[in-house]
Amino acid sequence: MGTCQTICGGHLEAMIVQLIATNRPGSNSGKVAAHVAEIYAAKGTPLEVVDLHNLPPEIFNPASYAEKPASFASMQESMTKATGILVVTPEYNGGFPGVFKYFIDMLKFPETFAGKPFAFVGLSAGGGGAVRPVEQFTTLVHYLRGIVYPATVNIPGINNHLDEAGRIKSPEIIERLEKQADGFAKFVEKTGKK
Ligand SMILES: Cc1cc2nc3c(=O)[nH]c(=O)nc-3n(C[C@H](O)[C@H](O)[C@H](O)COP(=O)(O)O)c2cc1C
Repeated sequence: MGTCQTICGGHLEAMIVQLIATNRPGSNSGKVAAHVAEIYAAKGTPLEVVDLHNLPPEIFNPASYAEKPASFASMQESMTKATGILVVTPEYNGGFPGVFKYFIDMLKFPETFAGKPFAFVGLSAGGGGAVRPVEQFTTLVHYLRGIVYPATVNIPGINNHLDEAGRIKSPEIIERLEKQADGFAKFVEKTGKK
């Protein structure tokens, strides 16, 4: 893949959006996502980050169901442009964060999602590794008319796998993330909506 992020050679270049699916301050999901972004950068695979920590407060006004605030437009635009979506989600009470579903509900349906591949990195403090959140969200992807990339990276016991700088220290996990990055980039190229 090249580095062009708009129109290349007459077709829209693949643009993967990494979606950080929580707004919890200091979240481990944000730390893992930062390391994953480094992995994509090292491979020269363009990645745009949409981080729910940056959701504008106005979006939580109930009036937003009818009319989106102007401050939400850039997030909608990034999601619209995405040709693939890499979700980094924590496990909260056996599911994905409520704010993640709220974000999905604020986006235009179905054009934001239809025909787009979704991949997942899931993490939890406990032993589940966000298997349940990813399976639950997979059901939504089908409804949203997206396509699920089957190789998920689940990380249980996340607090044992980060160093003091918040980077992943386990070579085995990094290897799985590298493999997923290679596979998902190819999957988006072949399968994704252009
Ligand atoms: C509201 C909430 C619910 C949680 N529920 C679970 C859970 O069901 N299972 C689990 O293993 N960890 C649970 N955790 C811990 C998270 O998995 C842990 O904080 C992990 O670092 C990922 O979330 P983070 O990105 O917010 O840091 C929960 C954390 C929060 C804030």
